[in-house]
Amino acid sequence: MLPPQPHDTDAPIRLTDNDAALAKLSAVRQNYLSDPYIKYFVPRATFQPVRPPLINIGTFVRTVAIDDLVNQWLDLSSAEGKKCQIVSLGAGSDTRFWQLATGLRKDCLSKYIEVDFPENTMKKAMAIKKNKDLSTVLGAPADIKLGHGGTSLFSPLYYLLPADLRQNPTLSLSSLITRNGDAPPLLDASLPTLLIFECVLVYMSPQESNTLLRWFHTYFASQNDGRLGAIVYEMFGLGDSFGRVMVSNLRTRNVSLPGADPYPNVESLPSRFLNLDYTSAHALTLKDIRRDYIGADELDRISKLEMLDEVEELDLVLEHYAITWGLTVSGKHGAAWNEWGMRRRETIDEDEDE
Ligand SMILES: C[S@@+](CC[C@H](N)C(=O)[O-])C[C@H]1O[C@@H](n2cnc3c(N)ncnc32)[C@H](O)[C@@H]1O
Repeated sequence: MLPPQPHDTDAPIRLTDNDAALAKLSAVRQNYLSDPYIKYFVPRATFQPVRPPLINIGTFVRTVAIDDLVNQWLDLSSAEGKKCQIVSLGAGSDTRFWQLATGLRKDCLSKYIEVDFPENTMKKAMAIKKNKDLSTVLGAPADIKLGHGGTSLFSPLYYLLPADLRQNPTLSLSSLITRNGDAPPLLDASLPTLLIFECVLVYMSPQESNTLLRWFHTYFASQNDGRLGAIVYEMFGLGDSFGRVMVSNLRTRNVSLPGADPYPNVESLPSRFLNLDYTSAHALTLKDIRRDYIGADELDRISKLEMLDEVEELDLVLEHYAITWGLTVSGKHGAAWNEWGMRRRETIDEDEDE
């Protein structure tokens, strides 16, 4: 165990991972999502209460939307004859790696890297090491190595790294892009690379998250055929009465949301990327996504899972969360990548009919 810090002001931020994992576990137990791995990251998983329908629906919409963007990224990489790299920042107990590595697109993955505070990576590394269902996906036991006092884990495909993302990435994330002796950097700048920030940048100052996004952009945009995508999921528009209640509830848990300050509305969200010279960026609220961007069959299926009385309340919550995606492509073959983005229901339904 890492020694407890005397005034550990980051502990409440790290604990937000428990909420995210419990919400996912609940959505799985209520059949909104299928995820055989999340239970391994929640202590006493079978005894955890399920969350209200409103939370389950929010978790479903967010997960399906991010999965869609991730799958499209893998498909675009394959269409170019390349494998792709995924870096999940503030990954917490997320299980997307296990789903991908055992799913239809597993051969498209070159590397999956997760980063979080060392306390959280140590917990995750221990959970992986002691659970066969998790560790066998990573490879043979001899290929899975712990490092940095048990806070990091390395395997042929999956890497778990400790870092405070508020610190200068040139130091805290240097192993991603610099050579270590004869070993190449973890990230190959010639491969399409997708960053996932699922509910993490909001806990950092805008300056800190800009530094991080700029640092990745500089590395990939300097390549001839650089392709960098980034997905951000988080709350925004917290200046209204709903937002003020959310902020004050979180303050009682010593959690603040400085990252939401520059984004009063959904139109402001793409500026997060465009101001840093990403080629393009878009944003949609979870309310928009539920209304127009989830396949009809799935929407119909989940509508039968639980009684939902408060549709207006659901919309109010969903319109304060958004998914923003930004893209940087360089080189002459970039056109197909500009199609990367959330697809409207009609397109999803057409694809499913074929
Ligand atoms: C709300 S949880 C989300 C976890 C996961 N991305 C998901 O959606 O299930 C936020 C995560 O971001 C991590 N995090 C927040 N600020 C961070 C920082 N400065 N450095 C590293 N990790 C951070 C927390 O420790 C936590 O695991």
